[in-house]
Amino acid sequence: MTEPTARTVQITRPAITDQHGVIESHHLPEAHEYAPTQAFRAQTNVHGEIYAQAADFEAFWAEQARTLAWRRPFTRVLDWRPPHAEWFSDGELNACENALDRHVAAGLGDRVAIHWEGEPGDTRAVTYGELLDTVKRLANVLEGLGIRAGDRVAIHMPMIPETVAAMLACARIGAVHSVVFGGFSAESLRARIDDAGARLVITADGGFRKGRVSPLKPTVDRALALHPDRPSSVEHVLVVRRGRNEIDWVEGRDLWWHEEVPFASPMHEAPALPAEHPLFILYTSGTTGRPKGVLHTTGGYLAQAAFTHRTVFDLKPDTDVYWCTADVGWITGHTYLAYAPLVNAATQVMYEGTPDTPDWSRWWRIVERYGVTILYTAPTAIRAAMKVGRQVPQGHDLSSLRVLGSVGEPINPEAWLWYREIIGGGRAPIVDTWWQTETGAIMASPLPGVTTLKPGSAQRPVPGVSLAVVDDSGRPVPAGEGGLLVADRPWPSMLRGVWDDEQRYRDTYWSVFGDRYFAGDGARLDEDGDLWLLGRVDDVMNVSGHRLSTAEIESALVAHHAVAEAAVVGAPDPDTGQAVVAFVVLKRNQHLVELQDAPAELRAHVAATIGAIARPKAVHVVPDLPKTRSGKIIRRVLAALASGAEVGDLTTVSDPSVIDTIRGIIAADG
Ligand code: WTA
Repeated sequence: MTEPTARTVQITRPAITDQHGVIESHHLPEAHEYAPTQAFRAQTNVHGEIYAQAADFEAFWAEQARTLAWRRPFTRVLDWRPPHAEWFSDGELNACENALDRHVAAGLGDRVAIHWEGEPGDTRAVTYGELLDTVKRLANVLEGLGIRAGDRVAIHMPMIPETVAAMLACARIGAVHSVVFGGFSAESLRARIDDAGARLVITADGGFRKGRVSPLKPTVDRALALHPDRPSSVEHVLVVRRGRNEIDWVEGRDLWWHEEVPFASPMHEAPALPAEHPLFILYTSGTTGRPKGVLHTTGGYLAQAAFTHRTVFDLKPDTDVYWCTADVGWITGHTYLAYAPLVNAATQVMYEGTPDTPDWSRWWRIVERYGVTILYTAPTAIRAAMKVGRQVPQGHDLSSLRVLGSVGEPINPEAWLWYREIIGGGRAPIVDTWWQTETGAIMASPLPGVTTLKPGSAQRPVPGVSLAVVDDSGRPVPAGEGGLLVADRPWPSMLRGVWDDEQRYRDTYWSVFGDRYFAGDGARLDEDGDLWLLGRVDDVMNVSGHRLSTAEIESALVAHHAVAEAAVVGAPDPDTGQAVVAFVVLKRNQHLVELQDAPAELRAHVAATIGAIARPKAVHVVPDLPKTRSGKIIRRVLAALASGAEVGDLTTVSDPSVIDTIRGIIAADG
């Protein structure tokens, strides 16, 4: 595999345009702009002055942080020793107390925290009081299992209220949760368990997806049984019964949630924890084959999560019904499902399954049934709904919707306009929110009562955040030109490191521009100073809003016995934003004897190794890959071939004839 730094610094401007089809959408004629309506302006939480009020960003964030409940108030705001920041570091608080106890103490115990809907149609309304009761009992169970502050707990769960309870119970006792998305394979799960040294796994027998039970506990069992020579750090597995699928049981190691939690004491004092106490690790794809454990801490994370949730969505906790469709396995589900809505005492919807089960009207029925007022979803979901057709949402009463959010990838103006007209009834403002696992919370977005919206633009850094678009040498680029997005000062919810890998933290984010954070995204500012995201500039792909690493998929491919070499690129895809396209060279003769259908087998192999989300859309078996004279694969050329674009300058390709060969193979593969 190529070394990480060599890939990370491949950030010349051509890479921005070569790799990313999304840039096309910005060549559309300037669309209409949308100013907030009088009615919206009249009721909005914040006004334009907030940007000026945030000029002293430290004072501003301190003021935001004071909306949290602190056990010990902080006196220090920011301690910035690049590349390490500490926020509110002499303060103490408890994240779970902020999400639950204080609301119950304030008399909101009967407010619904989560309107949950299972995929088969079963529903539960979980109040703040009930959620707190469960979390306290669970905290006692965890402590009874010997889990202490600082210990790591892996969570591999479906979208059920117990998952949120599990995260909050960890936070309550100071254990660091590492949620591993339910779609990941046993190998991916095990790699994350090992990297964090998790002592406990919380899981479910299975959860419902696409009308079937998708097993989870069996994946945990397989993960823990991998590498018999190297036992895992896991001592116990706590299992929620949900799918009622058949599962194996390891006596002494495995525990049923329903046999433990209801019988544990409902009394539990939340300890005061330092503001910089680790809250969670969340693994995300980077430029090498190994996912990195992004580390977030408590005080700053909660402050920015709560602030952005209130202002970007104009949240009115007493009346809004908020729905974030993200899975808790991703950062959006962490910040804008598990933490911010609860810290803000909101009522939210949580849905277990897929949008097309039993049919594509599912989401719109949910909006109608619960009277959802704020919907936060991803462009890929909007494009999927567009494809199905407007008649489906139009068959439902969506008039409760008043704010619409988008996250995860650039939203093309066509999808934006459809979202506004068909879902938002031409009324509801759309907030296109740019941020990352690493930033912890929203960094750029319009404010719905303030900003005149431009379809496709994330527009402005949120108050208190500063972003810039610079060239390779770090100089700001002129308006209209593409460059690299950086954060030029620390922000409260920034990652505090890569778990157990200080060097990787430094190399990935801080080696390019010193004390400015390198986001890995291309961007441009227009004449009004509004921000347009142009996609990743490194070897991270964005498929349906999920981050995938080319190197990770390449590693999986070359681990297959028949594969000699592999190169993976992201090609533009009208539905998923980007699609994974792989080029493989098979070992000589291997393919003749053993592989009937190499592309199908290799696609399945990647899905089994990493998870279904990483399954390539296409695998092209080629005789050779385009390389430099020194033997480095030129992915730029493959990306161009995969997207049918011009391949550009070929002077560095050692054998240009392979390009025509590959082009022929792509055409033949269809
Ligand atoms: C992309 C998701 C354009 C971007 C919260 C970023 C976006 C990566 C947007 C982070 C947006 C996220 N417009 N691109 N509004 N939001 N991205 O870590 O490339 O899963 O670097 O966090 O998604 O993905 P992650």
